[in-house]
Amino acid sequence: MQTIRWKSPSNIALIKYWGKHGVQLPSNPSISFTLNGSHTTTTLSYTAGKAKVELLFNGGQNDKFALRAKQYIASLGPYLPFLKELDLHINSENNFPHSVGIASSASAMSSLALCLCSLEKEIIGTKLSKSDFLEKASFMARLGSGSASRSVYGGYVSWGKSQYIPESSDEWATPLSFEVHENFRELQDTILIVDERPKAIGSSEGHRLMEKHPYAQQRFEQAHVHIATLLKALKAGDENTFIRIVENEALGLHSLMMSSDPGYILLKPGSLQIIEKIRNFREKTGIPVSFTLDAGPNVHLLYPAPDKEAVQDFINRELLVYCMQKRRIDDHIGKGPEKLSSGE
Ligand code: DP6
Repeated sequence: MQTIRWKSPSNIALIKYWGKHGVQLPSNPSISFTLNGSHTTTTLSYTAGKAKVELLFNGGQNDKFALRAKQYIASLGPYLPFLKELDLHINSENNFPHSVGIASSASAMSSLALCLCSLEKEIIGTKLSKSDFLEKASFMARLGSGSASRSVYGGYVSWGKSQYIPESSDEWATPLSFEVHENFRELQDTILIVDERPKAIGSSEGHRLMEKHPYAQQRFEQAHVHIATLLKALKAGDENTFIRIVENEALGLHSLMMSSDPGYILLKPGSLQIIEKIRNFREKTGIPVSFTLDAGPNVHLLYPAPDKEAVQDFINRELLVYCMQKRRIDDHIGKGPEKLSSGE
């Protein structure tokens, strides 16, 4: 048995991907940054065989994940035809719990896609440059989960065609090509865990509800404008504009959920309390803290590295009371996936 292993982090979107069409194509471009500490390690072992796929999640059975990953691998026949002559054994291990406001599909699917691209290299002997390898991995990750396409790269990453990002594509993600201002280079992200129970409505259903959403077109157009504004802010180090756009995107995402048919609410009273406290703290101290939200109740508190001490103190004093068992995860912007081993 040969083994390939990749560790890939999750990411958090600043401009949200919400709505898709065709084969996993986004209805609007998005921008995220890749996290550092919250990741999935996927170990892929293979032998000659007949396309049997065995899957473990954190060392045990997980029917939902196994079904999704098996369907994903089965759909890759046109790109990786050699898969039908192999048996695969996959172990996917997250170092963070499920449903804590960290997209596990982004890290799980990107690390699996990276393993499959390394497998292609080993089996076929394909020789790709590093950037072509990552582009292919991002493409393959996108087929598994849209947000996973962005996790193939570290730092700030965009996915989806935007006129403001010449190299952008709907097919794969690309890292932002300019140097982000130092104000945003070491962005911190503390995830405040308000509720970690499984959500009533998952992202797949949320994307589907955008197909007939009355505000869909305006939303997709707004995302393009937000991309342009956020890019300028990231270049110039404009913290006020960053905060305005990022918070607007987070609240906008949840208002799209509320105005879907049927409408639904994923925010909890604690999420709203935290948002209010964050805004008050910003006003009072002038420290440029902001928040963003995933498709769930947990709040991502974003802040610059030099303000870490003051913000940590604020979290301990004012925010943890709204968190389930006072739980939070301290993370920050990271460098992207890492290949861990390959061999017998
Ligand atoms: C709110 O990438 O989880 O996190 O493509 O169906 O796997 P699928 O959806 P997914 O959606 C992510 C939605 C989001 C915003 C974002 O990450 O851009």
